[in-house]
Amino acid sequence: MKLLRAAVIAAIGMTVLACSPQGDGANGADKGAVDAKELKRAKKVVERREAVMGLMGWSTGPMSGMVKGDAPYDAEVFTRQARRLAGLSEMSADLFKADVRGFDLHTEAKPEIWDDYEDFAKLAQDLVDSSNALVAASQSGDLAVASQAFKEVADDCKACHDKYKEDDH
Ligand code: HEC
Repeated sequence: MKLLRAAVIAAIGMTVLACSPQGDGANGADKGAVDAKELKRAKKVVERREAVMGLMGWSTGPMSGMVKGDAPYDAEVFTRQARRLAGLSEMSADLFKADVRGFDLHTEAKPEIWDDYEDFAKLAQDLVDSSNALVAASQSGDLAVASQAFKEVADDCKACHDKYKEDDH
């Protein structure tokens, strides 16, 4: 009985030995780990670019309310939000640079962005320019002046969304 068990164990041991040289189990596991790491990194890319866009929406909200007359004009708040938007707009081109189209991730970014990234970056720069102009205009303390500059900003948001953002779904 003891002998038989020893023989079985030996046989199993040999099978394992025989399998391991050609078995690519270890390599397969490594590859899986690399893929998971890359997917995690790609997910972060999408999360960051959505976060900066979400913050842009958060920055424009109070200004939009004042421009529409839904909220009383507060020049200080308006300028503060314009400054925040200008800071965020500087980030967008860099945050969209990484092409993670190969990953199966939910995103509203159209794949065409990376067919002509220079064009996308140009639209992002337009927003940097218009939001900096908005900071200057908002410092006039004049709602009409600030509203005109805000319209330019909203046009720049729309120009890029029309071209490179899927409709909400
Ligand atoms: C240069 C192009 C570009 C400009 C300019 C731009 N956006 Fe976006 N925006 C995008 C793209 C692309 C997405 C989709 C991102 C994704 O889903 O990965 C997006 C998504 C968004 C979203 C949804 C974020 C989410 O949670 O999924 C909001 C809100 C938004 N943008 C607001 C704005 C506002 C406000 C402005 C102007 C002040 C603006 N964007 C200007 C390209 C742009």
